Amino acid sequence: MNEMAGSGFGFGFAPILFLSLLVACAARPIYPLPSKVSHGNRLPLQTSRPYNIAHRGSNGEIPEETSAAYMRAIEEGADFIETDILSSKDGVLICFHDVTLDNITDIADHKEFANRKRTYDVQGVNTTGFFTVDFTLTELKLLRVKQRYSFRDQQYNGMFPIITFEEFISIALDAPRVVGIYPEIKNPILINQHVKWPDGKKFEDKFVGILKKYGYRGSYMSENWLKQPLFIQSFAPTSLVYISNLTDSPKIFLIDEVTIPTQDTNQVCVSSSANSPKFHS
Ligand SMILES: *[C@@H]1O[C@H](CO)[C@@H](O)[C@H](O)[C@H]1NC(C)=O
Ligand SMILES: *[C@@H]1O[C@H](CO)[C@@H](O)[C@H](O)[C@H]1NC(C)=O
Ligand SMILES: *[C@@H]1O[C@H](CO)[C@@H](O)[C@H](O)[C@H]1NC(C)=O
Repeated sequence: MNEMAGSGFGFGFAPILFLSLLVACAARPIYPLPSKVSHGNRLPLQTSRPYNIAHRGSNGEIPEETSAAYMRAIEEGADFIETDILSSKDGVLICFHDVTLDNITDIADHKEFANRKRTYDVQGVNTTGFFTVDFTLTELKLLRVKQRYSFRDQQYNGMFPIITFEEFISIALDAPRVVGIYPEIKNPILINQHVKWPDGKKFEDKFVGILKKYGYRGSYMSENWLKQPLFIQSFAPTSLVYISNLTDSPKIFLIDEVTIPTQDTNQVCVSSSANSPKFHS
């Protein structure tokens, strides 16, 4: 829709169209990092072939879930960027896969945090380490991310910080074409046990709240969805059921190997097999 199309209908229609343009503009969210490219002129999401989803960004090259890994994935042509959402101690949603910081950050070099090591029950397993939920966002931002595996490119280790969910969204929205997001709500039981939001909201409420703040809504292939494509994913069925009450955006229920229980209801998916589609690793 543009003003040229409006003038084709004659002057009677012009004010109405103009008004609707203004309403559309007013409804547009304000991004922390302002978009450099107008929404209207961006190349749309391709829908002619299966989606190319950058799992944790371009992480073979750049440490996973960092801004650089996501920007590289977009450069390389990803249709969607994928991430895992956890929380800081002060309730800020962050992009990070592990509940502990030990394996892929330089936390061990930060002696000032040496006394923060804890043991918590994570889905029935006592797990020891430095948990994201014991660090404020300011503290987490002091850390730098490194590669998970030694066979990956190590040259970008120690260069990039953990990013927030909102920073992740800004990267997708600032892309030169429409790039969708594929966030996973991670370990909701643990997060809701350890993080208390002042307004009494749950992890799931905060998660959906951020998506709505940035204008994400609409069912699969709807007009709104195509402008800001989104899939919400989780291994926790109760989270997805709860979220389905809050948003009509598409949701993906992740199933793991038959030996691995869901993140909340302690169920396994008996129909899962090596031949069924692998949703996640
Ligand atoms: C960290 O790495 C160790 C050794 O590879 C592994 O056993 C453990 O599961 C990893 N921790 C997380 C939270 O992924
Ligand atoms: C975890 O540790 C606590 C405290 O030591 C213990 O009571 C509990 O049985 C342990 N749980 C598991 C699943 O090992
Ligand atoms: C959905 O919302 C309604 C109204 O707020 C509430 O009564 C119901 O329990 C909710 N369902 C779930 C699954 O959270």
